Amino acid sequence: MAPKTNGIGVQVEDTRICVVMVGLPARGKSYIAQKAQRYLKWLSIPAATFNVGSYRRNDSPHPSADFFDTNNAEGERKRRAAAEAAVYDLLKWFKNGGVVGILDATNSTKERRKWVLDWLTREGIEVIFVESRCDDEELIMANIRDVKTSSPDYKGQDPEKAAQDFRDRIRNYEKVYKSINADGDEDDLTYLKIMNVGKQVIINRIRDYLQSRIVYYLMNLHIRPRSVWLSRHGESMLNLDGRIGGDAGLSYRGEEYARKLPELVLESVGSDRPLTVWTSTLKRTILTARHLPQHYNQLQWKALDELDAGVCDGMTYQEISDMYPEDFQARDEDKYNYRYRGGESYRDVVIRLEPIIMELERSEDILIISHQAVIRCIYAYFMQKTQEESPWVPVPLHTLMKLTPRAYGTEVQTYKANIKAVSTWRGKGSTAKHEDPLPEGGV
Ligand code: ATP
Ligand code: F6P
Repeated sequence: MAPKTNGIGVQVEDTRICVVMVGLPARGKSYIAQKAQRYLKWLSIPAATFNVGSYRRNDSPHPSADFFDTNNAEGERKRRAAAEAAVYDLLKWFKNGGVVGILDATNSTKERRKWVLDWLTREGIEVIFVESRCDDEELIMANIRDVKTSSPDYKGQDPEKAAQDFRDRIRNYEKVYKSINADGDEDDLTYLKIMNVGKQVIINRIRDYLQSRIVYYLMNLHIRPRSVWLSRHGESMLNLDGRIGGDAGLSYRGEEYARKLPELVLESVGSDRPLTVWTSTLKRTILTARHLPQHYNQLQWKALDELDAGVCDGMTYQEISDMYPEDFQARDEDKYNYRYRGGESYRDVVIRLEPIIMELERSEDILIISHQAVIRCIYAYFMQKTQEESPWVPVPLHTLMKLTPRAYGTEVQTYKANIKAVSTWRGKGSTAKHEDPLPEGGV
């Protein structure tokens, strides 16, 4: 069995980093925290977010704006208690093997930052502050309207009144808010400042590799509306025989899918807006993309090639089970970590897909035409699937999937081409060549 490594080749045993969010309300702090957590967990780096607002809600579920006025002694006491409870739990989590903890709160004064920094440093934890600044009034109003009025803080309240109260809450924060190092006396801090969703960034005293990966990822985030489309190649000649891997051309039905794909894409995109198409370097994905409109840019990525089955490449599952019964069973027991002899595991595929995810975060509309295992790994990133689940996700042939990132999650739509194809999905313990029908809940 291959040794386990996490996705970005970091020795995480001795590393413990706390990402401390900073910024006024409705600046996307929770959004950034959730994305960072999802990215790190996908790379097998234990990560968790501690949202101080949730701790505060235990005691003060529906506070009005004056609760956040620093002259309100009761409010101050409760807010401090909530922050302490969150840091306690964060420290407990680090003791149980946590690697990157995220403290999601406003931490908007120098005093609060010093308090957090001193406490965490005493416990041997590296601290990196991530501040989101935004002076785009329209965006802030949209954030309030889209996310804040539906917060549990305003449950059952009129959205107009909730929005007004939230604006008043921001005013109270503004009275004491100090951007990191605004006075020039926080220069020793490790921090990333993101202005207006990445239009400008300031990076200060980033210390190690894992910190720099987190910073690089966060610098690439944008919130312009966009979707990512995923499709497997059309049915291949090897799919027909139930053989894995290889570099075969398309079957007659696979070719039919390639011809239908432009129509399916147009129906899903809903307009003539151009897409960028990424394929693998294998024939079956390139052939599947070849009838797409000429004005779509096409790019081939080696990183999108199918999971390498090593010595089993070109075999059927039945042949693998006959020739390598122990391997076949080991794969079923831990499919994510099982590495084919001379080939790859799902974990290996995730590692090589990291640059794809980074590029996807920077990009707008992209259509990816790839393979079963690779699409499972990309799907797992967007849908937060666990390592136990992701290698078993059904991804049928001749189906286009549209993923649209939203504030807290990803929306999925599927478009079936209605062109028959074999099923390449295999259930645990089975060697089925074409297991049909697909299980319920397939994407
Ligand atoms: P609070 O302090 O009330 O918890 P918050 O700063 O955590 O607020 P979020 O709840 O994360 O704010 O706001 C989510 C909204 O912020 C989403 O609609 C998202 O599109 C938007 N957003 C994401 N990143 C940014 C950014 N860098 N600047 C401004 N808005 C952003
Ligand atoms: O059968 C099609 C295929 O893309 C193979 O080339 C690949 O080995 C396999 O799917 C990956 O699926 P699983 O990990 O379930 O065996």
